Amino acid sequence: MSDSQLEPTRPPAVAPGNVAVITGGASGIGLAVAEALIAEGMSVVLADIDAPKLRDVEARLTEDGASVATMICNTTAEPEVNALVEYALEQFGAVHVMFNNAGIGGFGDAWTDPIELWHRVVDVNLYGVVHGIRAALPIMQQQGVGHIVNTASMAGLGVAPGLAPYFATKHAVVGLTESLFLELEALGSPVGASVLCPGFVKTDLMNKEPDSIDSPLGPIIAEFFRTGVETGIPASDVADQVTAAIKAGQFWILTHEDMRQGPVERMQRAAAGINPTLNIGS
Ligand SMILES: NC(=O)c1ccc[n+]([C@@H]2O[C@H](COP(=O)([O-])OP(=O)(O)OC[C@H]3O[C@@H](n4cnc5c(N)ncnc54)[C@H](O)[C@@H]3O)[C@@H](O)[C@H]2O)c1
Repeated sequence: MSDSQLEPTRPPAVAPGNVAVITGGASGIGLAVAEALIAEGMSVVLADIDAPKLRDVEARLTEDGASVATMICNTTAEPEVNALVEYALEQFGAVHVMFNNAGIGGFGDAWTDPIELWHRVVDVNLYGVVHGIRAALPIMQQQGVGHIVNTASMAGLGVAPGLAPYFATKHAVVGLTESLFLELEALGSPVGASVLCPGFVKTDLMNKEPDSIDSPLGPIIAEFFRTGVETGIPASDVADQVTAAIKAGQFWILTHEDMRQGPVERMQRAAAGINPTLNIGS
C-alpha cells in the first residue's frame, strides 16, 4: 500500500489541542520540537533526566502561555517511560505525537574501555526509543490516531571510525523505525512513524562528553564531532522539518541536503563489493 492510499484516512497527529510527549525535551532538538508543536496549539509533556533544566524550561514555557507538563524520566528504564505516557494521559487525556529523542554521544574506546560504555549508549539511544514506542503505540492504536518520531542521525545511515556504539545504535534506530513503519502500513494502522536523521545541529550534545579520549582515533573524532555540532544548523530548523514531516506522513526526515549522497555512495560500494572508505576529517 502506498502513502497516498493511506494518508488521507489518517487523522492529523499535529493539530491544535493535540498532545505530544517528548523525551530529551529539556534541551536541543527535543526542546525545539516542543516549541514548534506548542506554536501549532498543542500541549506538550517534556521528559528529561536533567531536573534543573527541565524546571527552567517549564517555567519559561508556562510563562509564555504554553500548555506544558514535565516529568523527570530516564528513558533507559521501561517503567519510567510507561509512567511518562500515563502521566501525559492523566494531564491531557491523549498522546498524539511520541518523540523518542533522548540520546547521548558516548565518546570512549569501544574496544578497550569497560563494557559499561556500550551499555550506557545502547540503553539510552536504542532501548530508550524501544521503550517509548512500546509505551505509546497501544494507546495510539486505541485512540485511532498518533505519530511516532524516533531520533536517529545521519550516523544511522553511514559510518565513521572511533564512535562505534553511537553509530551502531543510530543504525539500529533507523532499522527498527523502518520495521515499525512497514508493520503499521501492512496493518493499515492509523498510526504513522518517521525517523529523524539530522546532520550536525547546534545543541549541548557534545558538552556532556569527556574532554579527552584515550584511544588512537579519540582526539580526531572528538574534534570532528565538537566542531560539527558547534557549527551545526539551528535546532529550530530541525523542529520545522519534524513538524512538516508528521503533517505529511513522511517517513524519512533528513535535515541536511548536502549529506544525502554519503549513504548512497556507501550502498553503491557495498553493492559493488568495495571495502568501506574513510571519509572523515576531509
Ligand atoms: N546535535 C546533533 O548534531 C545531532 C545530530 C544527529 C542526531 N542527534 C540526536 O538528537 C538527539 C537529541 O540530541 P541534542 O543534539 O538535542 O542534544 P542535547 O544534549 O541538547 O539534548 C539531549 C537531551 O536528552 C537528555 N537525556 C540524555 N539521556 C537521557 C535519558 N536517559 N533519559 C531522558 N533524557 C535523557 C539530556 O539531558 C538532554 O537534555 C539525540 O538522540 C542525538 O543523538 C543530534
